[in-house]
Amino acid sequence: MSILIKNGRIITASDDYVADIYIENELIVSIGKNLKIVAEKTIDATNKLIFPGGIDPHVHLDMPFMGTKSSDDYETGTRAALFGGTTMCIDFILQTQGDTLYNALKTWQEKSKGKAVGDYSYHMAVTDFNENVAKEVVQFIKEEGITSFKTFMAYKGALMIDDGQMVQLMKVVKENGGLVTVHATNGDMIDTLIAKNKKEGNLTPLYHYLSQPEITEAEASGRFTDMLFYTDCPGYIVHMTCEGALNAVRRATLRNQKLFVETCSQYLVLDASLYENDKEGAKWVMSPPLREKKDQIALWSGINQGMIQVVGTDHCPFMWEQKLMGKDDFSKIPNGHPAIEHRVELMYSEGVRKGKISLNKFVEVCSTNAAKIFGMYPRKGTIAIGSDADIVIFDPKKEHEISVKTHHMNCDYSGYEGWKLTGKTETVLLRGKIAIENEKCLLKAGDGEFIARGKTSLTI
Ligand code: URP
Ligand code: ZN
Ligand code: ZN
Repeated sequence: MSILIKNGRIITASDDYVADIYIENELIVSIGKNLKIVAEKTIDATNKLIFPGGIDPHVHLDMPFMGTKSSDDYETGTRAALFGGTTMCIDFILQTQGDTLYNALKTWQEKSKGKAVGDYSYHMAVTDFNENVAKEVVQFIKEEGITSFKTFMAYKGALMIDDGQMVQLMKVVKENGGLVTVHATNGDMIDTLIAKNKKEGNLTPLYHYLSQPEITEAEASGRFTDMLFYTDCPGYIVHMTCEGALNAVRRATLRNQKLFVETCSQYLVLDASLYENDKEGAKWVMSPPLREKKDQIALWSGINQGMIQVVGTDHCPFMWEQKLMGKDDFSKIPNGHPAIEHRVELMYSEGVRKGKISLNKFVEVCSTNAAKIFGMYPRKGTIAIGSDADIVIFDPKKEHEISVKTHHMNCDYSGYEGWKLTGKTETVLLRGKIAIENEKCLLKAGDGEFIARGKTSLTI
């Protein structure tokens, strides 16, 4: 179908202008003032913002974790993402320790095949590095279009690799043009604090927070950047939460390292006081935990200073009954919360409207930089001739309220219940097809495609 979007205010990471967009065969074909083209469908976008579809590079769909699995699968998760203006996400394949990367890839392909409503890609989490895995890493980059490799410096016994494995992985990834990403917290320090708190009978959700103090993240972030420097490998720190970790990055940038940083929407708008609620605190049990107000200020500043390039979600929802696995022991609460649907609207309402970031910065951190860092630009992440027609038409004035009653994620609570936002995703196009219109999803399971990725663009 051909579509003409008339008179919208087009926002990219660098531009802001009013024009028409003509779309045909999945792509943006023409952009200009008063285009005289007849299309099969015309959308009047007067007084609306138009920006590239959001890209959330940090989600966990249908993921086995902490004795259970995340409650959104590829269908419910990518559909909820579309409702909120996110047209593509990058999920994590987890290698089972002792097994191959290719076996894990097969498992994740089965989870996503015929199910995704929105577009997706995978990061490959390497949890057990050895010579065979080194060969597979090269194959993933050269043959599978999977160019980012996730590592964990925590979750010992399940996901964590040691520093020796990390350095070896970095060397292979660097030589082959990939990127190493990291959950940067000091797992041993955290495990010791968890054991101490449990021994002392400190079992409420507050102690999840107190077992992961800022220094555990600052230390690991610094160590990771040193290992990157040593190997000259490009790297990306996921879900950064705090001032201490950001200062480690600040030091690394003095060495002109190839280093990128992601924070998540929850760390910008929620804080650790939520853990004081013994009954409901489990809703926000995630790792790293929510931090302090001073950390929110540091993160917003980090975005404006260009040290944080991406805002993701770390979407990893669990039903309340799953959260109750840890009702008597915080260390058994599955870590993660539902977020994929609200990121774009939260960043607009709390970020742009409250004067913390510009409209161009909003597009940069919600879409463009992820496309560049993860090797999909300019196919994804911008509004330009020849790019995929992944487009959000957004009503900047529309007021609405977040609630479990209206969200589309497969989760029976909201971490933002009753939050009032201004600015709402109205219409969404995915590769030129109408995905969301009149609060309905018009796409079905299987319409989302796997997006093979290339090399990181190191200049963003
Ligand atoms: O709490 C979290 N973040 N759950 C998902 C796994 C991870 O560490 O990203
Ligand atoms: Zn993590
Ligand atoms: Zn995560």
